[in-house]
Amino acid sequence: MVAKLKTKTDSKAEFATFIKEYIKNPDKRKSLYGKRAIKKYGLMPSLENVLDDKQIVKLTDFLYNYEENTMLKEKKTRIVVKKITKGEKLFTKNCAVCHAKVLGITNSDGYENSYITTAPYISKLVAKLKEKTGSQEKFTQFIEEYVKDPEKRKSLYGKRAIKEYGLMPSLEGSLNNDDIKELSKYLYNYDTN
Ligand code: HEC
Repeated sequence: MVAKLKTKTDSKAEFATFIKEYIKNPDKRKSLYGKRAIKKYGLMPSLENVLDDKQIVKLTDFLYNYEENTMLKEKKTRIVVKKITKGEKLFTKNCAVCHAKVLGITNSDGYENSYITTAPYISKLVAKLKEKTGSQEKFTQFIEEYVKDPEKRKSLYGKRAIKEYGLMPSLEGSLNNDDIKELSKYLYNYDTN
């Protein structure tokens, strides 16, 4: 509604005057939004006694800036959604340098950027290990073991990866047990779709 009324009025003042007028005295002849809406919903009732002039000014101001206001709100929620967990932080710091989260990005010009992968793609890795371990407990145990002491015999992901990339180095010392637990939880819940 706001977008349409903005195109139908020439200035903020005209927009405000229209709203003020319409709130007090809705009239089919005055409608700028279109008579189809009146047919569909019926004419809006007058709010003459509901809002005083000061309130109407505030309201028209809010409406005039509506898009801006909602966009700001959306920006705020996006930040909240993006808040990262401890597990994700640990992964970014200790694992992502080898285990890519993204395989490639297609730029707007259609050119494909792919990463050089030095270890299995994390999404594939998690999916396979979940299948091989069968429970969160075993999954966690395996990660704990492998991060501290990677060994060919222990591999569940498959020896092909070891042949292709070499054995993963031990990260014992760079992560404590709590960190590894947090990391396993993050990986177990990793969205592999
Ligand atoms: C220096 C590079 C490097 C880093 C850093 C690294 N990895 Fe790896 N990782 C590898 C490579 C290479 C493989 C494939 C060979 C293998 O399985 O050992 C692998 C395999 C794995 C496997 C599969 C093991 C198997 O064969 O079944 C797990 C689980 C794993 N990594 C977890 C982690 C976690 C969790 C971190 C972060 C704490 C991490 N990795 C950090 C290189 C790395």
